[in-house]
Order: sequence, then structure tokens, then C-alpha cells
Amino acid sequence: MRRVTWSEKDASEIVAEALAVLTGGGLVALPTETVYGLAARADSADACARIYEAKGRPSTHPLIVHVSGVAAARTLVCPSAHAALERWGSRFWPGPLTLVLPRSAHVPDLVTAGGATVAIRAPAHPVMAALLARAPFGLAAPSANRYQGISPTSADHVARNLGSAVDLLVDGGACAVGLESTIVAPARLGAGDEAPSRVLRLGGLAIADLRAFDASLLVDAGTDDDDAVHAAPGRDRRHYAPSCSIVFVTGAHELAAPTTGVGYLTWGERVQEGFSLWRTLAADPEGYARELYAALHDAELAGIQTLYVRRLPEEDAWAAVRDRLLRASAR
Ligand code: TXA
Ligand code: MG
Repeated sequence: MRRVTWSEKDASEIVAEALAVLTGGGLVALPTETVYGLAARADSADACARIYEAKGRPSTHPLIVHVSGVAAARTLVCPSAHAALERWGSRFWPGPLTLVLPRSAHVPDLVTAGGATVAIRAPAHPVMAALLARAPFGLAAPSANRYQGISPTSADHVARNLGSAVDLLVDGGACAVGLESTIVAPARLGAGDEAPSRVLRLGGLAIADLRAFDASLLVDAGTDDDDAVHAAPGRDRRHYAPSCSIVFVTGAHELAAPTTGVGYLTWGERVQEGFSLWRTLAADPEGYARELYAALHDAELAGIQTLYVRRLPEEDAWAAVRDRLLRASAR
């Protein structure tokens, strides 16, 4: 694996190198504003097959195609969904929103896992944006972690977890959002389909912003035992899983004296030192999201067996991080 560090000065050289790797069917791990992605050219089934292999991911879990914007997305989507693409894409792209829409015929089956829809997103990160502006293809890119592992929010996380499976790793620093994109299946405007827009995965976009945009939006991304699992396999209950077991507590006062192999993840309170690992994350949902995965990676690296986690507030603004922690705690 070759690793390069992103800088404005070297941007065009790095983009050219990444483009050469991708054109040849190789894998490039690179930052997006949400989490690091493991990218391959989306128009090549052979290249996308390498993603599944590198991640150890079952081929039933489709990939998100990353594009530069609405115009590029149009070619991947069935014309009946162009109005919905236009409406949502022009409001939220570039940004942490993935749209699930009926696919056009030339998207490889491996990308969509044989399904009738394709997931598309235009990311805001300068590295990905610079690459997509020059690439003559979209980039299929899941989070750059092994299947069921914690998503990476730094280049070190990628190197540690995928290492030699990646041809080129672009280090663009820590991800600003820190949670995966929000996935929405938008209502098909005027396409004779009355189904309302629906959130398939909570993520980096604030629910309040989505609701303000579409008041009839269904936000029910909670359980794993309904049809939505098949609509978004990322809702598998045990999907964002650290190797330690997670136990929720209401605060430090609930904890016995610190012992080895035990960690504590909290926010908004002072904690006593002495745990093998302890972290006080930001007390606001955006800050907490930005820091969460790095703390879980650290816990894994430190060999923590039990990680106590201070319960999060019940407000909507915390729903996406609550969702991830709940899944991480599932056994
Ligand atoms: O923020 C993100 O979305 C990151 C960055 C790299 O863009 N990507 C990401 O990809 O989280 P991944 O593959 O780790 O998660 C994408 C989720 C998976 O759970 C997948 O099953 C679901 O999106 N998905 C992909 N295509 C879909 C489709 N056509 N319909 C429903 N769900 C789909
Ligand atoms: Mg993932």
C-alpha cells in the first residue's frame, strides 16, 4: 500500500495518481466529510469485486456510488426519478446525504447487489470532490473498514484495518462529520408512486433539516426486523461493532473503581482517571459524532473488554449517534 498526504500544493499530482490507480481497476482509500471510503470505479464489476474482497463484505450489501453532483447522477438513475434527484440533490449536495433511486440499466449488478435501486451521493470533501471533478466514472465507495467493523475517520484507522488490501491511501486528516451519510429513499415525484420519502439510515445530516425540507418524511430507522433491512442492509443490528462489549450507564457515579480492561466513554461530566481508557467527548451531537469512532477505535486498540458508555440525551438531534451506539452494543 502506498500512502500519500493530501495538500493543496500537491493536489493535482495526487489526483492524477489516484485516477491512474482507479482507471486500472485498483482501490483507493480516501477521506470524505463523513468517513473514509474505499473507492473503485463504479462502471467496472471487476474493480467493484475487489471492494467486496478487501472488506470481506457479502455481495448482498450494495455500494454507494459517489458522483460530482446532480448532472453526473442523472446517468445512473431511471428517468422517472430525475425530478426527485433534482429536488433532493440540489438542496443537500454536496453533503452527507445518500439518495436511493431506481437505477438505470448500465449500473453494474455488483454495485446494486442485483437490486432495482442505486444509492448515490455527492460528497463535500475537497479530496473526493477534486477526484470526482476529473474522473470519467463514478466511484463506488463503502466505508473503508472490514465488514462489521467500525468506520474509519482517519487514515491511520484505514491503514490498521485494511492495510495491504488498498493500493493507495490518501491521508486527508480527520473527517469533519465522523458518521456515515444519512440514506433517504425519496418520494418519486409525479411518477405515479405514492410512497412518502423515507430515511433508511440515520447519519451525518440533521433530522431537523430533513424534516424542514420534507414534512411527510418517515423517520423510523430503528429496528432490524422489518422490511427496511432489505431496503438498507446497513441497518443490520450488529453492523458498527467494536470488539469490546458496550454497557450503557447514566453517569460516572454508577461505576465501581476503575479496573484494567475497562473503559469509559462520556460527555459533559468530569471523570476520574484510572480506567484503561477514558474519553470525554463533546457535549453537543455534532462534536460527539465527530469524535465517537476514533474513541471506539482507540478502545479496540487498547484491548478494552468492557466499555461503559454514558447514555445520550433523548432529543432527535442525538438520534444518529444513539443509533450507532445501539448497534455497536448489539451482541
Ligand atoms: O458516508 C457514507 O455513506 C460513506 C462514505 C464513504 O460515503 N459510505 C458508506 O458506505 O457508509 P457503506 O457501504 O459502508 O454503507 C452504505 C449503506 C450500506 O448499508 C448499504 O447496504 C446501503 O448503504 N445501500 C447501498 N445501496 C443501497 C440501495 N440501493 N438501497 C438501499 N441501501 C443501499
Ligand atoms: Mg460501512
